[in-house]
Amino acid sequence: MKPGLRKVVFPVAGLGTRFLPATKVVPKELLPIVDRPLIQWAVDEAVAAGADTLVFVINRNKRAIADHFDVAYELEDTLVRREKHDLLRVAREVLPEGVETVYVVQQQALGLGHAVLCARSVVGDADFGVILPDDFIFDRQTPALAQMAKVHAQVGGAVVAVEPVDPQWTSRYGIIDGEDAGDELIRVSAIVEKPAPEDAPSNLGVVGRYVLPARIFDLLAATEPGAGGEIQLTDAIAALLAEQPVHGYRFSGKRFDCGNKLGFVEATVAMAMEDPATADALRESLPEIIGSA
Ligand code: UTP
Repeated sequence: MKPGLRKVVFPVAGLGTRFLPATKVVPKELLPIVDRPLIQWAVDEAVAAGADTLVFVINRNKRAIADHFDVAYELEDTLVRREKHDLLRVAREVLPEGVETVYVVQQQALGLGHAVLCARSVVGDADFGVILPDDFIFDRQTPALAQMAKVHAQVGGAVVAVEPVDPQWTSRYGIIDGEDAGDELIRVSAIVEKPAPEDAPSNLGVVGRYVLPARIFDLLAATEPGAGGEIQLTDAIAALLAEQPVHGYRFSGKRFDCGNKLGFVEATVAMAMEDPATADALRESLPEIIGSA
């Protein structure tokens, strides 16, 4: 069997209100960081972690995501006739050979936990990964989910990506409590969704990468709406704690919260600096742009 995580779920059925009006028609996940949509970066990360089945949880406004990963026959035919081989390769590489896409509809935006539950029949009994594409994580060596797949193969149970967050913003995250288990792992003893700073058990916030056992689906099905009236993934993970080990993993790499404007712009600049086509010119023009602002 192929190593790594074979199935990865992308819950992308949220409304993306913080990016209006851009997201009125265009799904947030199709907004590009330089020339690759957020969802493309996420898919590349899943494939690097071993995925061969990509499960997108969408809604009626997110159908363009399926178009992005479909074969664009007319485009490819034109590029073949024009002998634009490099561009043809770029257009075809959106989905590597042997990787399958499955689309599941979340009919009502009842929360992240509910969105993950919608993937149940496709995921079945296997452990699986979850990527929230608007949490963009860049690491030059090993993408975050691949790091987590490796750790998960050693410790089992559930592994959630964590990073220290500004204590005043704990109410934006699931926050964990636990003990250092070495090798960037924290053995989780408690997890709470969006606590006020004074109630937060630590400053370690869960960010958009998870490796979960299929048992989480039973627990999600039994989860009542929590913070914000939504079915929270965090609450199901809290229930899992009684049965299986849950580890927080301090991944290596830089995270950009592309669900908000600042994070999105920072990610764009960071990736443009990684691209030889733009890095040198940007190094010159950026101080000028900033200086004249
Ligand atoms: P967010 O909290 O970022 O919400 O969801 P959002 O709708 O994407 O954006 P804003 O806050 O309105 O601007 C976190 C992740 O969970 C998914 C979202 O698509 C995003 O990937 N999600 C959330 C669902 O798939 N379904 C839901 O019911 C809620």
